[in-house]
Formats: sequence, structure tokens, C-alpha cells
Amino acid sequence: MNTNNHDMFSPLTFKNGVELKNRLVMAPMTHYSSNPDGTVSDEEISYYARRSKDVGMVITATTYVTPNGKGFPNQFSAVEDNMVPSLSKLAKGIQDEGAKAILQIFHGGKMCPLSLVPDGDVVSASDIPANSEAVKPRPLKEAEIEEIIEAFGETTRRAIEAGYDGVEIHGANGYLIQQFFSPYSNRREDRFGGSLEKRMTFPLAVIDKVQSVVAEHADESFIVGYRFSPEEPETPGITMGETLKFVDVLAEKKLDYLHVSLMSFFSNARRGVEDLNKMRISYLLETIDNRVPLIGVGSIYTAEDAKKAFETGIPLLALGRELIIDPDWVEKVAEGRDDEIITEIHKEKQEELVVPDPLWKVIIHTPGWFPGV
Ligand SMILES: Cc1cc2nc3c(=O)[nH]c(=O)nc-3n(C[C@H](O)[C@H](O)[C@H](O)COP(=O)(O)O)c2cc1C
Repeated sequence: MNTNNHDMFSPLTFKNGVELKNRLVMAPMTHYSSNPDGTVSDEEISYYARRSKDVGMVITATTYVTPNGKGFPNQFSAVEDNMVPSLSKLAKGIQDEGAKAILQIFHGGKMCPLSLVPDGDVVSASDIPANSEAVKPRPLKEAEIEEIIEAFGETTRRAIEAGYDGVEIHGANGYLIQQFFSPYSNRREDRFGGSLEKRMTFPLAVIDKVQSVVAEHADESFIVGYRFSPEEPETPGITMGETLKFVDVLAEKKLDYLHVSLMSFFSNARRGVEDLNKMRISYLLETIDNRVPLIGVGSIYTAEDAKKAFETGIPLLALGRELIIDPDWVEKVAEGRDDEIITEIHKEKQEELVVPDPLWKVIIHTPGWFPGV
């Protein structure tokens, strides 16, 4: 029997002493709705406010750390100090409703659309395109890699100045940090590529930089988390076995939490470990062995799904699409109104759900992404 079966409404205290009022987190979700100058729009603030009352912590949509890291149209920016007031407005919008505000920070690497990066200069670890139709990215020079590491530090400083409770380093979903860890995307032969250990160099350098900026500019209550994707479909590609070795290193990095990116919480490992009938979450929890809290995520639509997820021993659970579909999901579970939870998008309820236009359009025009579409 699993002895770590947490009550989702019990508080969680991070090792830095910060307490979350419960174990439910809003997952980071890009909303494509910021102003043309890169500032956060009022519609985005309303969207977060509608979802920040009941969860313990909100992880924002990802923001980019350098101009050539912009991954989405109308993504909000954190590349310059003049963005601090905009970032601050977002932090306050979340915190005023009662949740901790975590800014997710990234560089899109080869996933950035050509039209969004200066001079169409799409960069990555190596020259492997994102897909068969994408451009060949330009491999970054070592000095440029150092500049990007520095930029992660600068964005962290801006997050501190803007009043966030923490940052999450986005090392998942195929973006630049993952491109460096991936044996598919990273074919380098310098200190940033080659062996598994060398492929960890860039992600670990980003973590070190972020932590050094936090030590210099914030007090110990500032939270630093790291998100990763456990496996890639390509061969070669990240396997569960490689991820467990990486997670073993991450668990010693004095991070406040780790966050696995999954579309299905209960999915099994694909390759690189002995038992392919065993859940990725179980492998991760075993390897982490309570050294750092792990956030799980993925298709937790019902209260029953969430209860089953906590039975694995997961300390924190993130909800993404579920909170777009039903912003009152957490309140309903807290009040035992499980059967009132809405699990499919209602196409005529945009206004009631407080979702900005561009995000709403993406949702209703992408079949299969959201239940009900
Ligand atoms: C509209 C949308 C935007 C997303 N944007 C991000 C993002 O900015 N950063 C990130 O790490 N994950 C992003 N994700 C992935 C989610 O954080 C989450 O891992 C995924 O949706 C599975 O969880 P769910 O089933 O609770 O939605 C996004 C997902 C959706 C649906």
C-alpha cells in the first residue's frame, strides 16, 4: 500500500518554508492574447483571475527570455526591464485571488516560427528541423549559448522585481532546453553534446544561473521549479531510462519542485526501462524518493481521476484544460459537488468561461485537443 496518499486539500510546505494552501496547481497554458508590444493584456488578467481563487499555485503561460526565443504569436515578453510592470500586473492578478504566482520561462529554439524571430534566424542545439516542413535551425555558437543562459538569469531577476513567488524553468515540450537534452535534437560534439552527461550541461547551467540570481536578488521564499518531458517518440530520442538518470541529478539540485509534462497522468513508460506496464509517474516517484516534490498532470477531468492520481503518492497535481473547461473545478470538488464538474468545452460559453478570443479560436479550431471539439 502506498503510504504517501496525500489529501488534495491538505497544505504543502516547500523546503524553503513557503506553504501552498492545497495540492492543486493550474498548469502553464499559452494564451496567444498579449498586446502587440509584448505586454500582458487585460483579457489575460481576467482569464487568470477567474481561475486563481481555489488552486494553491498558478504557473503562468510560458514567456520568452530572448527575442529569438519567441515561440507563439501574441506571447507575452520578459526580455527587457520595461516589461516588469506588465509582468507585475499578471503576478498581482493571480495573487490577489489567493494563489502563488509562478512565471514559466523558456526559449522556443527550433520550435519558434520563422516569422516571429529577428531576421528569421531560428536557432537550436544542432541543425535538426522541428518537423519535415520546418526550416533547418542554425546551431548556436558557444558564446550565444552563454548569452541565453545569462538571459534566463535576467528574466528571473525581472520575475523577482515583478513580485512573483517563483519561476518555473520550462525544460519540456520540445523547446530549447529539451532540444539540448535530446539525443535527437542535439548532435553537438562540444561540451554541450555527446554523452548523456554532456547533454545535461545546458539545462543544469540554466538552473545554476537562475539559482544564483535568486540567491543574489530574492530571499529564500522565492520558488524555483523545473519542468521536463519524460520521453520523445524519435529514435534516437529521450527515453524513460535517460530521464530517470536526469531526474536523479535534478533531485539533488536544491530545486523547490519538479514538474513532469504529460498528456495522460496514468501513461506507462515507452522504452528504456524494464517494465513497460509501469506508469511513468511511478518510475519518477521511485527515483525521486521524496527528495523534492513532483507535480503530475494530464487528463485529470473528474474528481475520481484526481483521487486516483493522489493514490500514486504524487504530492502535487496540475490541471490545465480542465480549468479552461470548468474554472470552478476545484471549488466543486472541495464542496463535494463532484457530479457538477463540466468535462467538455461548451462552444457557446466563451464569455462565461472568461477566455480571451485568440485562445478561444485555437481551442475551437483544433479538433481532438479539447474534449467536446
Ligand atoms: C492551450 C494550452 C497551452 C499550453 N501551453 C503550455 C505552456 O505554455 N507551457 C507548458 O509547459 N505547457 C503548456 N501546455 C501543456 C499543459 O501545461 C499540460 O501539460 C497539458 O495540457 C496536459 O494537462 P491537462 O490534461 O490538464 O490539460 C499547454 C496546454 C494547453 C492545452
